[in-house]
Amino acid sequence: MNTPIPVVHLNGQNLPAEDACVPVLDRGFIFGDGVYEMIPVFGGRPFRLDEHLRRLENSLDEVRIPNPHTHAQWTALIQELIDENGGGDQSLYLQVTRGPAARDHALPKKPAPTVFAMSNPLRAPAAETLEEGIKAITLDDIRWARCHIKAISLLPNILLRQTALDAGAAEAILIRDGYATEGAASNLFVVFDKTPGGVLVTPPKGPHLLPGITRDVILELAETHGIAHREADIRRENLAHASEIWVTSSTKEILPVTTLDGKPVGEGRPGPVFQKMYALYQAHKARLQDG
Ligand code: PDD
Repeated sequence: MNTPIPVVHLNGQNLPAEDACVPVLDRGFIFGDGVYEMIPVFGGRPFRLDEHLRRLENSLDEVRIPNPHTHAQWTALIQELIDENGGGDQSLYLQVTRGPAARDHALPKKPAPTVFAMSNPLRAPAAETLEEGIKAITLDDIRWARCHIKAISLLPNILLRQTALDAGAAEAILIRDGYATEGAASNLFVVFDKTPGGVLVTPPKGPHLLPGITRDVILELAETHGIAHREADIRRENLAHASEIWVTSSTKEILPVTTLDGKPVGEGRPGPVFQKMYALYQAHKARLQDG
């Protein structure tokens, strides 16, 4: 069976991916000068769209690219692309670059941003992965100091993830100045059960991590369902005392890390707080699809 060619969006037009072309002088190509979003789509509907569009707006403001669309225009463009690609579960990628201009570090006076969007099928993590968890390793966070911007220039993230893969792990947990920040493409949650009653901890938002939309959903669910939680810095050495570690993202949802740096995390199996949060997350998604 031939895989259908996905339809992509480029500067106001929907067209087959293989027909979409960007000029070689596009600053996204030359400098990695652009920002992006990755929006999960469940049952044909974008999940937490307003939050993703707000984060996009923030990234654009931070890098001084004028937002080429209103909220309503983004919403229409995204829904059209979802529908053109057959609905269902998708991961929708949006990218805005500063557009084509003669190569010069200085910002062009009249930028013409390039808007690109594509969609790929979204596959939930395999049951086996959820039952066994993943391996992760800690690595020095070699990224810049403005990681709250969802920039397309991802060379450090790519190299960090690949270093983890080369070591037989699925994700890198990044350490900056002795503290764990996040994963190469995910946020970090840690359960400490030595604290009376146990507590779920995630590093606070700031310039050293991306303010993940999934992270916010998890904190909201913890709040609503009485799971003790805290936003606090996590010292590298305290990772060894964790009973559970998870990484979270729009595409992978919540993944339990059961081996860190070759040693079991807690009992070496996905823990009870993960099981509870995973169920709450799935129920939350299902409610939104029905509603
Ligand atoms: N990345 N931190 C980093 C560095 C990320 O790249 C991501 C997601 C997250 C999680 O954010 P969210 O919950 O909003 O997906 C945290 C996407 C999935 C990617 O680049 O493919």
